[in-house]
Amino acid sequence: MFWDALIRKDEFARYQLSEKIVNFIYPGYIFSEYGRSYLKEKKFKNYYQRFETNNWRSYDRKYFLDQLLKSVVDVSGDTAECGVYMGASSWLICDRIQRGEKTHHIFDSFEGLSQPEDIDGDYWQEGDMSIDIGKVKEILNSFDFVEYHKGWIPERFIDVEDKKFCFVHVDVDLYEPTRDAIEFFYSRLNKNGILLCDDYGFDSCPGATRAMDEFFHNRQEHVINVPTGQAFIIKR
Ligand SMILES: C[S@@+](CC[C@H](N)C(=O)[O-])C[C@H]1O[C@@H](n2cnc3c(N)ncnc32)[C@H](O)[C@@H]1O
Repeated sequence: MFWDALIRKDEFARYQLSEKIVNFIYPGYIFSEYGRSYLKEKKFKNYYQRFETNNWRSYDRKYFLDQLLKSVVDVSGDTAECGVYMGASSWLICDRIQRGEKTHHIFDSFEGLSQPEDIDGDYWQEGDMSIDIGKVKEILNSFDFVEYHKGWIPERFIDVEDKKFCFVHVDVDLYEPTRDAIEFFYSRLNKNGILLCDDYGFDSCPGATRAMDEFFHNRQEHVINVPTGQAFIIKR
């Protein structure tokens, strides 16, 4: 294996060798199957690197979000994202819906995270991921159907209280704003609409997982936990 990996530079042998090395150094990491084509998609990789140049850690989540969006393009209603940061996931949402009649609503403090509570653990600090709204507007400037609702969740939800939605992305990392976003948007989701919660199942975001589980505990929708660190429901 060493010969094939290091001298012949055989791709699969290199993968196997990497797996062995990682198993030795960090056994908690589980290598997935070799040769998954989505990891080589040039167009998607280029999109990702516009937003993240240091690592590939959220590549799978972004990819999953993009694929899931295909199933709501024909569902009526607008889209919304709670927790936008640089606009990477909003960019994907806008790209998918741009040929429809939908408006994309953006909710963010643009001052970073609110104060984490005990339930959120100690990974996050107040103010993390603060960003200038002007930068986000620049990134999304090719989409003329975006509405910005700057403020602390749920203050600006009132702006869209009469609207219906086909897709809502909740990505605020903490318990309270995740809970408030789910409570507000659930009744405004159209049938077959999707609510996707980011960070579900991550050690760093116990509050996001708890908010989803609590809200859907007695409801007919199933929380579908995907291995990327996301969970979604399809509105019945
Ligand atoms: C993880 S980032 C969002 C990343 C983005 N969805 C992406 O994938 O590109 C979390 C965002 O949530 C926002 N946020 C967190 N708590 C908030 C709150 N209580 N009210 C409004 N915005 C909040 C932060 O300002 C930050 O931009």
